Amino acid sequence: MRLFNFILFVFLGINWSIGFAQIHQYIAPKDSLVKVHLRDWQDLKFGLFMHWGPYSQWSIVESWSLCPEDEGWTQRKGVYAENYFDYVKAYERLQTTFNPVQFNPQKWVDAAHHAGMKYMIFTTKHHDGFCMFDSRQTDYTITNAKSAFSTSPRSNVTKEIFQAFRNQGFKIGAYFSKPDWHNTDYWWPYFPPLDRNVNYDPKKYPDKWNAFKSFTFNQIEELMRDYGKVDILWLDGGWVRPLKTVDRSVSWQKTISKDQDIDLPRIAAMARTHQPGLIVVDRSVIGEFENYTTPEQEVPEKPLPYPWETCMTMGNSWSYVKGDQYKSTNQLIHLLVKIVSRGGNLLLNIGPGPDGDWDPVAYRRLSEIGDWMKINSACIYGTKPIAPYSSGNVFFTQNSLNNEVSNTIYAIYLLEENNPFPPGQLLIKGLSLGRNSKIMSLEIQQNLPWSITNGELKISLKGIEGSIKHALVLKIVNVK
Ligand code: GLC
Repeated sequence: MRLFNFILFVFLGINWSIGFAQIHQYIAPKDSLVKVHLRDWQDLKFGLFMHWGPYSQWSIVESWSLCPEDEGWTQRKGVYAENYFDYVKAYERLQTTFNPVQFNPQKWVDAAHHAGMKYMIFTTKHHDGFCMFDSRQTDYTITNAKSAFSTSPRSNVTKEIFQAFRNQGFKIGAYFSKPDWHNTDYWWPYFPPLDRNVNYDPKKYPDKWNAFKSFTFNQIEELMRDYGKVDILWLDGGWVRPLKTVDRSVSWQKTISKDQDIDLPRIAAMARTHQPGLIVVDRSVIGEFENYTTPEQEVPEKPLPYPWETCMTMGNSWSYVKGDQYKSTNQLIHLLVKIVSRGGNLLLNIGPGPDGDWDPVAYRRLSEIGDWMKINSACIYGTKPIAPYSSGNVFFTQNSLNNEVSNTIYAIYLLEENNPFPPGQLLIKGLSLGRNSKIMSLEIQQNLPWSITNGELKISLKGIEGSIKHALVLKIVNVK
């Protein structure tokens, strides 16, 4: 028997270390102010992401149709699709017709604030290289005279968006793509572009690569210096990285054959002189500049022992697609609950359209999420995961003030869409409570009878049936 236990132990131990292999590759920041900001950011739980650029006029996936890789999302569509180079020209001409006259960031702030979002990350520049800010390093910007919107007093949309959200107390994040498919020092016209990577060998043409490094440094400096307080620098395009950091077991990293070291230590140091304590997210590049990790369109199965954020689209696409299918309010609330019960944040994306506004469905979703949050947000903000994390359709969070866990636990019962109420009682496994504990519904504010038999917690829900939608939240004050 002992031998059996030992074998089991070894077996589980091996799986444990395999499963947690990634975990040990997180490197916590050393800067004490970054640490404080990161802890504060973890308490915010819910943020808004926006992908916006001239591409919204074509209802296509952001940037990727410029990339000559044969993948579903890179496919070119429309009248210019047949010929790659004609397509690129037409894509670049989108700059001249991009005229989002309905642009009014206050409307977005109001909707996001009502929904209970606490931070916002905006695509200042995506892989196509188009700058949604007033960059002096290129004329491929929304503020350049070639852009239809340049005559608007609000043409520097990044500045307007940052300011509007900051005024409402949001933390501000700048999404910035390290690769730039418009810059001729990244995709040198001497060679045709081959794939998402730089199209020449930086080792062979160091001057070109150095020019690209300076360009990137200067653009990030503009954003960090001229746009007020910025809390997060969210760097996308993880293939721009030192070759030695490439992880061949990750399928998308297999195409990286050239060293694309952009000198992030220098960039981060500069950024933090302008923005002390800045959180830097050099996505997927494991090291001291990936201050939190960013699972994309997925929710980790279990809590991760480091800061993380799931980024997810409200519709199917990051960028605006006319008639996109949006997730239901029920699905979105459930996502938020699951993510928070595992210690993460949800960064929920909405793509503004070419007129400068969101699809009305997005406003409806945020309004309904806000109605739920108004009553139940105590189970979301400032919480930590608590074992067993979930039991059936019930998810747990634990109040934690100043990083000290308290004796308040929330049990969040996810209700099916259009099936508003749970059975008359709730059965929960794996949660041990003290004899004098109190359980109440946040919505009905009434203590509920409960008992524990054979380790199973039984909570009576009699008398609280009613209008509860999406998720029923029970507050448990655990008293010995
Ligand atoms: C994916 C998309 C990219 C998008 C990002 C957001 O990597 O390819 O376009 O910006 O997700 O997380």
